[in-house]
Amino acid sequence: MKVFLIGYMGSGKSTVGKKLAAKLNLQFIDLDAYIEQREGKTIPQIFAEQGEPAFREIEHESLAEVAATNDAVISTGGGAPCFYNNMDIINKNGISIYLKMNVNALVQRLLRAKEERPLIVNKSEQELAEYITESLRERQTYYSLAKLVVNAKSLDSNGIEELARAVQMF
Ligand code: S3P
Repeated sequence: MKVFLIGYMGSGKSTVGKKLAAKLNLQFIDLDAYIEQREGKTIPQIFAEQGEPAFREIEHESLAEVAATNDAVISTGGGAPCFYNNMDIINKNGISIYLKMNVNALVQRLLRAKEERPLIVNKSEQELAEYITESLRERQTYYSLAKLVVNAKSLDSNGIEELARAVQMF
């Protein structure tokens, strides 16, 4: 079984992914961490040295590699579903889960965690709110192709338990 967690930056994909993997007895793979290891560079370094289009190509290749390996829970970067045929790769190879979170919650969470995220690193609170509103609207088209949609805020330990059951029944 392969489970892909998708959703906007800051929606908790890595945290939820680790917990869900433990519940399902599966290995956990963080696609961004996989990319960093594969390239020997951090994500901000790849953006700065090679630019976003090169990052998206690396991300696409990495996703295809991970999708072809053993069973796992895989958390993907917020933009991953929205480039190339990545959502197709995800849905052909496993169960996709969209962790949905509203703009206000994302703004508050990302204000505290923007340093390692090149797309938002220099934005003020106001700019961040505008950027998230706009890009979430665009990305929603791809996120909504997920097989399961869950409210990211409901994922306390009971919520994770429920999600694990839903995945097993899938
Ligand atoms: C990105 C999200 C990041 C990372 C990169 C680009 C995006 O991952 O892949 O900075 O386009 O939304 P997280 O969603 O884990 O922050």
